[in-house]
Amino acid sequence: MNESRGATDASAQRKVRVLCVTSSKGGVGKSTVAANLAGALAERGEKVLLVDCDLSNRSLDMYLGCENRAVFDLGDVYRGRTDASYALIRRPGGISFVAAPADLSPAAVSAETLCRAVADVISEAAPDWAIIDTSGPADGVPAMLASIARTALVVSGQQGVAMRAAEKTGDSLGEAGLDRRWLVINNFDFSAAEKGGRAGVVSMIDTCRLPLLAVIPRDESLAAAQESGALAAEAKAPSAQAFRNLAARLSGESIPLFYGMREFRRRRRYF
Ligand SMILES: Nc1ncnc2c1ncn2[C@@H]1O[C@H](COP(=O)(O)OP(=O)(O)OP(=O)(O)O)[C@@H](O)[C@H]1O
Ligand SMILES: [Mg+2]
Repeated sequence: MNESRGATDASAQRKVRVLCVTSSKGGVGKSTVAANLAGALAERGEKVLLVDCDLSNRSLDMYLGCENRAVFDLGDVYRGRTDASYALIRRPGGISFVAAPADLSPAAVSAETLCRAVADVISEAAPDWAIIDTSGPADGVPAMLASIARTALVVSGQQGVAMRAAEKTGDSLGEAGLDRRWLVINNFDFSAAEKGGRAGVVSMIDTCRLPLLAVIPRDESLAAAQESGALAAEAKAPSAQAFRNLAARLSGESIPLFYGMREFRRRRRYF
């Protein structure tokens, strides 16, 4: 597995692996994947920084149960109102977190200044992994951060529009210079795929034209956990294993697609 090597001092010195999580389709689970991947990497003993860089729709502060702790955010670092250290929130579970700007319009943002703000928080946190949640290529953020994050996880659900968005997202990211792009299938409904009502894994790979890294099942207990600021693993939700598998693959381990997911392992028809 290749790693993203940032062009900034922060990533060059620490060899931090920087990923952005994205898709031009809203609500497919980008923030869910970013937060729970961060949790799964931290569970492996990695030092993880999670940056909410969704300038239109911030959510990670709530998903992490930190909304009352975000006194300063990425926008304050961007504007030079605060030092990066004050924007870092250390969350139980081994994740450092920077909340998204509350009032920074994607249209008005300077790519250079945004890159510098993200590089500053990475430098301050000195993580092994930096995971950046973005809205999608349309607001330009993944392209702006391309010098820092050259690896992208493109999240898609099984709906035709989500897959179309994932394909388009992959193309846009390629044009922006993100040369490592992976598909993460989220909210996968195994029984709908089995019955033929929804796309299966192989047809999703074909449609999205991206190499597959992980399949995260639809998991209502995960969605409920998020409402109270807990990660899948903290709520002992079944999907926690899928995030562990994603973290393991990103770390270079070669494991079966549904490793440890006993309830799904023996069935084949959803391919
Ligand atoms: N695997 C899953 N199983 C069940 N619910 C999920 C799953 N993934 C995400 N959800 C739910 O879907 C909703 C949208 O998820 P999320 O906010 O992560 O999407 P997003 O792509 O980041 O959205 P936005 O485009 O608004 O940033 C949330 O309510 C979340 O709890
Ligand atoms: Mg989001």
